[in-house]
Amino acid sequence: MKILGSGHYAPHTIVTNDDLSKIVETNDEWISTRTGIKTRHISDGEEASDLAAKASIEAIEDAGISAEDIDMILLATMTPDAMLPNCASTVQKKIGATNATCFDINAACSGFLFALNTANAYLVSGMCKTILVIGAETLSKATDWSDRSTCVLFGDGAGAMIVTADDSKAFCSVSGSDGSKGSVLTGAATPLKNMLVNSDETGKEIANYYMQMDGQEVFKFAVTKVPECINQVVEKAGKAVEDIDLFLLHQANVRIISSVAKRLKVADHKFPVNLDKYGNTSAASIPILFDELRKSGKLDDVNRVVLSGFGGGLTWGATYIEL
Ligand code: COA
Repeated sequence: MKILGSGHYAPHTIVTNDDLSKIVETNDEWISTRTGIKTRHISDGEEASDLAAKASIEAIEDAGISAEDIDMILLATMTPDAMLPNCASTVQKKIGATNATCFDINAACSGFLFALNTANAYLVSGMCKTILVIGAETLSKATDWSDRSTCVLFGDGAGAMIVTADDSKAFCSVSGSDGSKGSVLTGAATPLKNMLVNSDETGKEIANYYMQMDGQEVFKFAVTKVPECINQVVEKAGKAVEDIDLFLLHQANVRIISSVAKRLKVADHKFPVNLDKYGNTSAASIPILFDELRKSGKLDDVNRVVLSGFGGGLTWGATYIEL
């Protein structure tokens, strides 16, 4: 697989830690030291498809193609505009990619990685030639703004890549899920309501709507699973950890990233971070980071990259790519 172009977009409104300290009992020092997050972008009306369309238009221009050249749109999100139509089809309409087959993928913070793996499978099979892969989230609408343990963590944004088949660029992935631990990170439940059951009466609907998390369990899971799957993918690619130029991890928490670097015995500078500006944007974090690095020239001398996503499900994965 070859990445032809990339783009990203985040809503213009920036919310600082000090801003949050006015709505919940928190402070910049607590949030910065526990997470590394300083600010996040929050939508003042744009939906996930709006963010995704803006990132995609930038990626299409960067790739030097036209929207009609795209034969598939894969959009990773857990906060789509609606259940129907799928968010990828809404993006198709907004960008004029009339020849694309469109569908969404929901694997929370691993979503973009799983979408990229799916794109690779379609390219290898010959079913598609040019695929737009997007991660887009409006997590602000799934956040309980009165819960200080979660509302400080998340942000809105989108990142996109245009990919095509290229035999000269290796692509290798490992991934997994553990549904038995799904309850440590939950949200946006749509309880059963039909002619037989009215879940409104139980009060479950409101309790389950917003994201809820057992932070320490998620932390433990991430710092164990991520190094494990990175080691696996590097071995599968026939490389050593030292051969990897950059590790682009899902941007959840700087302490998770440092701990992974330490466990792999790799210097921190090989793990770029931008979560200080964006917070955790779930499926959007890896493509936003990739695009920022690419546009600032920091990928110019980079060849071998490992991407790694992890989060709700639980889900995890690592993918080795060559630029
Ligand atoms: N501001 C101030 N205090 C806060 C706070 C906030 N925003 N959020 C929680 N606290 C308090 C707690 O109430 C608790 O107080 P207590 O000791 O009086 O009970 C104290 O801080 C410690 O809380 P705890 O939850 O034990 O903190 P922690 O060290 O585990 O850090 C996280 C919390 C969420 C930062 C950390 O668990 C984490 O990063 N987990 C991974 C989360 C993640 O990245 N999820 C997404 C993965 S895709």
